[in-house]
Amino acid sequence: NSPQRIAVVAGDGIGQEVMPAALACLDAVTERHGIRLEYTHLDWGSDFYREHGSMMPADGLDELSRHDAIFLGAVGAPDIPDTETLWGLLIPIRRAFDQYVNLRPVRTLPGVPGPLATDRPIDMMIVRENTEGEYSEIGGRLYRGRPQEAAVQETVFTRLGVSRVARYAADLALSRSGRLTSATKSNGIIHTMPFWDEIVAETAAASGLGGVDSVLVDALAARFVLQPWSLDVVVASNLLGDILSDLGSALTGSIGVAPSANLNPEGIHPSLFEPVHGSAPDIAGKGIANPIGQIWTAAMMLDHLGHRAAAAEQIAAFERVLDAGICTGDLGGTASTAEFTDAVVREIRRGEGAGTNEGG
Ligand code: NAD
Ligand code: IPM
Ligand code: MN
Repeated sequence: NSPQRIAVVAGDGIGQEVMPAALACLDAVTERHGIRLEYTHLDWGSDFYREHGSMMPADGLDELSRHDAIFLGAVGAPDIPDTETLWGLLIPIRRAFDQYVNLRPVRTLPGVPGPLATDRPIDMMIVRENTEGEYSEIGGRLYRGRPQEAAVQETVFTRLGVSRVARYAADLALSRSGRLTSATKSNGIIHTMPFWDEIVAETAAASGLGGVDSVLVDALAARFVLQPWSLDVVVASNLLGDILSDLGSALTGSIGVAPSANLNPEGIHPSLFEPVHGSAPDIAGKGIANPIGQIWTAAMMLDHLGHRAAAAEQIAAFERVLDAGICTGDLGGTASTAEFTDAVVREIRRGEGAGTNEGG
């Protein structure tokens, strides 16, 4: 019965503030459940870059591979190009460990009205393709400084890449309402999207799902706002899923609440757990960041590691705090990161057990 090994990278900006918050909650819940986690704290990120010229050491991915999970805060600093920070840490992790599913729950939270005029609850799962598509490595800047200067980005969808993420989404839909929506843009303009549609439809049929609702992403964005309760599992390509997941979380109050799991569903490699939000340089250092995204992400990690009850308890604890009217400024409250976190830790210790939500 050896401990499970977690690589912890707090990273940049508010990552340094929300990570300690989530670890405090994890300590409380793992203690109650007798779960043993062993943390390796890695000081990688933009400060590391300023000192060493890279975001992580040359053998960084090897180091991560020796862990059961990777727990990340955020990456990105205003004074370093995102091409350096993101291609130097976040994207290599997703690709090296073949984390082809980026799972992003979007759920109405108790006591948080959100910006919409309806009180019908939102409960969807965005399944974002996470290793290919619009985020391909093929492309570049041409003829810099000359009149013909240009930038090119190739989108690459592979049969393997689309079918495996579609399979995951179809299975997830089968375990929920049976409704699967696919974000597309196949109206004759973008060559890759009819290919995406074909494979998603084939995979959904083969999985035993009645069918898949393919919706053009522009109309789907509108449906997110007008009828979000009509959506359950939404499968989307890398870029479309990125955009829809910030939109979805904003509909539930703030992007500060949104968790994500970058999964290798076969479990051959460690999966990566990180909130949907970034390093938020505009509020970093002020102690006001919402830690829910990171705390909920920790619950998804617990669930993934087999600790379902502990995960559900952690989610129920922050939901009770919200329900009591305590929240950070992004949700209209006055609590600091530390005050909110202390309240969640107290709730975990009180241990009234899990609410109705399963972990993750
Ligand atoms: P962001 O998510 O960091 O911030 C967008 C807005 O949301 C800001 O106004 C911010 O203050 C607010 N916000 C975000 N998280 C919050 C929280 N927990 N509590 C309260 N408010 C919160 O996105 P951005 O400003 O576009 O990007 C900043 C940097 O982060 C960039 O370098 C970007 O590339 C990077 N980024 C990294 C990740 C990641 O590490 N996974 C994700 C997204 C963006
Ligand atoms: C996310 C982020 C990243 C992405 C960026 C920082 C590369 O926005 O995880 O949603 O686009 O995947
Ligand atoms: Mn994003």
